[in-house]
Amino acid sequence: MKINPRQTRRSARRRLVAGAGAMVLGGGTVFGVVFAGEPAHAAGTVTVKDIVLGVGANETQRYVTWYADAGTDSVVRLEKTAKLTEAGGFDSHAVDYTAAVTPTTGSSGGDVGRFPYRGSALLDTLSANTSYTYEVLAADGSASKTFTFTTGNFGLGRGFEFAAFGDPQLGADSNQNSLSTSPDLKEDAAGWADTLNALQSDASDDNLPLELLTSTGDQIETANVESQWDAWFAPDQLRTTPYAAAIGNHDSSDLGYRYHFSLPNNDVTTPELQTTAGGDYWYTYKGVLFVVINSNAQSSVKDPAHMSFVEMAVKANPTALWRVVSYHHAIYSPAAHANDTDNAARRPTYTQRLSELGINLVLQGHDHSYSRSYVLQNDGSGADRQNPAEAAAANTVAPGPGGVIYVTTNSASGSKYYALTEPKAGTTSDATHNGKYTVQTMPWAPAAGGTHALHWANSVENQDNVRTYLKVAVTANKLKVTNVVAGVCDYPNKYTTQGVGSWCGAQQATTVLSDNDGTSGFTRNTPKAGTPRYPSNNDPAADKYTTTSGVAPVGALQDSVTIVKRDED
Ligand SMILES: [Fe+2]
Repeated sequence: MKINPRQTRRSARRRLVAGAGAMVLGGGTVFGVVFAGEPAHAAGTVTVKDIVLGVGANETQRYVTWYADAGTDSVVRLEKTAKLTEAGGFDSHAVDYTAAVTPTTGSSGGDVGRFPYRGSALLDTLSANTSYTYEVLAADGSASKTFTFTTGNFGLGRGFEFAAFGDPQLGADSNQNSLSTSPDLKEDAAGWADTLNALQSDASDDNLPLELLTSTGDQIETANVESQWDAWFAPDQLRTTPYAAAIGNHDSSDLGYRYHFSLPNNDVTTPELQTTAGGDYWYTYKGVLFVVINSNAQSSVKDPAHMSFVEMAVKANPTALWRVVSYHHAIYSPAAHANDTDNAARRPTYTQRLSELGINLVLQGHDHSYSRSYVLQNDGSGADRQNPAEAAAANTVAPGPGGVIYVTTNSASGSKYYALTEPKAGTTSDATHNGKYTVQTMPWAPAAGGTHALHWANSVENQDNVRTYLKVAVTANKLKVTNVVAGVCDYPNKYTTQGVGSWCGAQQATTVLSDNDGTSGFTRNTPKAGTPRYPSNNDPAADKYTTTSGVAPVGALQDSVTIVKRDED
């Protein structure tokens, strides 16, 4: 089933439907918009929710996608913000983009609470450096809240920034994950929202605009539980900055992802690329080619099929300045999944073809931890460091042809972190690459007073058990990749506040977490005894923790590397 919204548009013939919709917080975290009907019409009765602004095929386009409780004909009404009425309303300058409103039929897992319809419209022929305001408008006069986005330059210009989020996985490990009232889900949702709020406060600011949000998968815990999707969609940043999602293993087994997102150049038919959630897609943004593949479809036949998709996208965009590939299952990572057999199985095919195709940067998820590889190259005999002399944690690298950097993104919500693992001798993820390299070590993690050996492919590994996100600053000759601290040990960070983990912070054994109500605290290595009182968004007396030392502030950089383009590239 190809979801391919119609792209026609028509001029606005109706006056603005007055009034922004009222926001309804069903179950505490559910984002919803109840349309406010225009008085001249019968009261609008259509309810929509989970509106998301998505990437189009290039920077001149955006998708808008949503869920609706009725199949009423709808449009996305769009107007240059500067042309709105003084009161901020739409007028004759507005353009209506006809939406495809289609049933959300089909189920592989029970579709818990899915709305019966989805709506989608492609906004095209946008202008550069323009602020636009839009709403979802149904034929009965029901209208959503309005949201605004800005296009920026077309073409690279001075450059731009994009963010990548790993595994928000709202509801992770919750024993009540089908309930929107779950305290686990509430805290995960609060962490996710807090990370999005932290985006503009980081120290990696290169005075470039943040224009694009991307993911490495696992938006939520359970693919068919709509209360989790509702919580994920709650932050308004998802309606004002385009988002490009990848399919994680937790998104993969049901139709929620497929219905919630409209994707450009989306292959939903080639069997080798598919899982229930969808397949592979690509888009360009200001000279950067982004290819997003569904690594959940994995076998000795499917892995080459994904690489053929990447090749097709590369060949379709011969003038791309940079090439970025994203997928969920990290093939080089530092924690629980580093030694997984399925990831080992992906490595030979992925690394060979990604090197051959001139991919610069690979963004991965799934391991709920952070790593940045050395510049790796597969020359046909297996992946290796392209420059054996590259220093660990080098802040600048200049890859030659075939050199690829693989980054694993840590949790963007605090819902779950995995401890760093020690490399297994004699495996492709070991510390020395079969004796070729000396072991690189870092102190403190994962055991107090001990040391940790890095997997041979990784230049940097990190697990502070705090939320982070990746930010990439793009200019013509540099990609600056930074991992940015988005939260501290305090709420919202379920891992510490609910006693899931035993420590938090950058300096193990020196961090003391103080309980906010003064009843107790715990050190980084000693979790609080007993059952924590679950925090919620509205419970100031619940167990929440603050730290006095050992934790980097929000906006601090955990890691930074600048990838310099060589002249011959
Ligand atoms: Fe995962």
